[in-house]
Amino acid sequence: MLFQRILVTGANGLLGQALVERLAREPGYDVLATGRQAEPLNTGASGGYVSMDVTSPSDVRAVFDDFAPDVVVNCAAMTQVDACESERERCWKVNVDAVDLLARACLAGGSRLVQVSTDFVFDGRSGPYRENDRPAPVNFYGRSKLAAENAARGAGMDRWSVVRTVLVFGTGERLSRSNFVLWVAGELAEGRPVRVVTDQFRTPTWSADLADGIERVIRFGKTGTYHISGRELLSVHEAARAVAEVFGHDPDLLLPVDGRSFSQPAPRPLHTGFLILKAETELGYRPTPFRRALAAVRDTLACSESRP
Ligand SMILES: NC(=O)c1ccc[n+]([C@@H]2O[C@H](COP(=O)([O-])OP(=O)(O)OC[C@H]3O[C@@H](n4cnc5c(N)ncnc54)[C@H](OP(=O)(O)O)[C@@H]3O)[C@@H](O)[C@H]2O)c1
Repeated sequence: MLFQRILVTGANGLLGQALVERLAREPGYDVLATGRQAEPLNTGASGGYVSMDVTSPSDVRAVFDDFAPDVVVNCAAMTQVDACESERERCWKVNVDAVDLLARACLAGGSRLVQVSTDFVFDGRSGPYRENDRPAPVNFYGRSKLAAENAARGAGMDRWSVVRTVLVFGTGERLSRSNFVLWVAGELAEGRPVRVVTDQFRTPTWSADLADGIERVIRFGKTGTYHISGRELLSVHEAARAVAEVFGHDPDLLLPVDGRSFSQPAPRPLHTGFLILKAETELGYRPTPFRRALAAVRDTLACSESRP
């Protein structure tokens, strides 16, 4: 059998962990997980792990020389939207310069690059969006991710893909960041009221579905841009209500608010979410219905809490 060697960056993050787990289920892949920590955080994932900071030319060169990947999936990013607004240099280094570095290494080594991107490349005036809608980011994170897409597209490779996604949720081992579902469920479990916006719309995405979509991009050798998200367009408040229902918490603790009542450094696009017809027709991608995905997250959490 012909193995494809797949290098995953940012493998300790929410998507990185889900992707390593998903790829490990396929016999045709040899997966190398990389992250900036010395050790993998998810010890359950099979395959090798080495430490690689994507901003370090020497780290990247060493890994490409040793592993010679057929495919690189870049899940590493600075994803804290408000921190990106205030720490622009650090954000650009991780989100753009590193992609440029990876793209040049891919070009030199003949590897395919799959760059993960975001709905925040759009301004949120006319979502849900198709792949060929015009990006117009409203914050620095979105600008950096759009520049990263352009770095991947413009590096001179024939084989590149950009996978954009939306409001990702799921579980993982020792994640450095919480996510929308874990945060809402955690606050409600403690009986704390949660303010959630009614005027921002998204198509929330289960990390396991996103990983499955990316595996399909790899398997079918697809080039170009793909929107991979959930199918249901919900306000953040509606999504939080579903979390309350599925986790069995009091929905009255959810306080509906208008986005303008938050003072956040980075403005948020109002109406994003994706139309995923291209991924459905070209990749056979079928996202799990939102409530069913929430139930799977709830059950995984219950299972890990009951472990000794
Ligand atoms: N989460 C969402 O709602 C969402 C929505 C749309 C798009 N996306 C995109 O999806 C991708 C994956 O995000 P995620 O949700 O998995 O976020 P995440 O959990 O924050 O994962 C990002 C990972 O990148 C790592 N990283 C940061 N700087 C690095 C560096 N210099 N070298 C190597 N690794 C580095 C982080 O490590 P540390 O933990 O040590 O910082 C973290 O493990 C990103 O491209 C993001 O823009 C996410």
